[in-house]
Amino acid sequence: MTARSNEAASDGGSRYIDDDRERGVFRVDRATMTSPEVFELEQRQIFDECWLYFGHDSEIAKPGDYVRRIVVGRPLFLVRGSDGSVRCFYNTCPHRGAEVCREERGNAKRFTCFYHAWTFDTSGSLLTMPDEEGYGEGFKETCSLTTVPKLDSYRGFWFISFNHRAEPLHDYLDGAKEYLDLVVDQAEEGMRILPGTNEYAVKANWKLMVENSLDGYHGLPLHQTYFAYVKSLGGGISGTNLVGEGGRELGHGHVVLEGEAPYGRPIARWDHLFGEDSQDEIAAIRARLVDAYGEDRASRMADNFRNLIIFPNLMINDITAITVRYVEPLAANLMRVRAWALAPREETGQRLQRRIDSYLTFIGPGGFASPDDVEALESCQVGFRAHPNVQWSDISRGMTRMPTVIDEVQVRAYWRAWAARMDGRPIPPPVEWPETPIPAHR
Ligand code: FES
Ligand SMILES: [Fe+2]
Repeated sequence: MTARSNEAASDGGSRYIDDDRERGVFRVDRATMTSPEVFELEQRQIFDECWLYFGHDSEIAKPGDYVRRIVVGRPLFLVRGSDGSVRCFYNTCPHRGAEVCREERGNAKRFTCFYHAWTFDTSGSLLTMPDEEGYGEGFKETCSLTTVPKLDSYRGFWFISFNHRAEPLHDYLDGAKEYLDLVVDQAEEGMRILPGTNEYAVKANWKLMVENSLDGYHGLPLHQTYFAYVKSLGGGISGTNLVGEGGRELGHGHVVLEGEAPYGRPIARWDHLFGEDSQDEIAAIRARLVDAYGEDRASRMADNFRNLIIFPNLMINDITAITVRYVEPLAANLMRVRAWALAPREETGQRLQRRIDSYLTFIGPGGFASPDDVEALESCQVGFRAHPNVQWSDISRGMTRMPTVIDEVQVRAYWRAWAARMDGRPIPPPVEWPETPIPAHR
């Protein structure tokens, strides 16, 4: 991967981060994760500006399908209209405000507000209201549901923006599109969200979850139980090392951590845990990928894990299975996580079962990883109460060498983008490696 430029040794000027590339030190002020003022400013500088994930195409496959969600505090629902068009509405009645859509998901030809029974069609127009004669002529036509300013999708992932001036989604996604492609192309017939949502609250700042997804350094120490379990069952891919592709900046604050997986992957990396009888089937999937995409790309799809962050708060963890994970900030010290399993549409029977087992064992709500991670994040947030006596969190790892998969180049990139947006500065271009020049005597 090519570095494009090396900016000034320090990205100084931000009150949130200490980015000292001369000394090879990068620190984040913990106020970024405790301060209510920072939380408020984030709403305006980040969440009112960026594109934000809403949901997946497969959740609204048929005309009339809808999904209701809160996105950064705002009630919304996404509907595929009877005309086939997808629209995202603020979930509030133009009459007096009640939520028009009261179910999490479903299929409807019209939506009737439960308060006074105003009824809307799937394109948001007001169809009927009780005692229409009580209003002046033409009044009804002014009472449509309001759509969010921007809505668009890429490869089945629907995003919204509250920013009327938001640049096109395609441009916003920038280098992240390559990684979304690497995920989606694993499927022969497209991807789908499996039924069910993992939803949980974590008593920690939402950015800690982003950091955690990008943090290859914690895998072995924190998730020891998982690796011991895999080993006890005779699983685990041998010969895997932790030096892989590593972290990469993808523009617009999007980042990824990619490397060779130290575990089996349901798409096409066989492991003992999947059972001996699955070898042929997995080999056949792999052969199809090689046919379609060539050896190199197929291997990257099958053998590598990738934790992708779409700035600011969408994570796609393509690891032991694929998780689409969305973090909703609720307060400086509280987040809500929603996660879904993504799978190729053509997967059924044993093949789907392998994926679901793999998903639940590691990243499911009762899996080996998620409870460890939640415990760690909540513990960090408790530790942050020592701020400002203990002011900084350190993210310097790997600044002074060519980054490996357990280094933090991608975490720094995320924080640099976050700080730039908070300060109203342009996001700095990708940093040249090593970030701190290595003295000749090393
Ligand atoms: S608030 Fe919806 S009909 Fe009155
Ligand atoms: Fe983890």
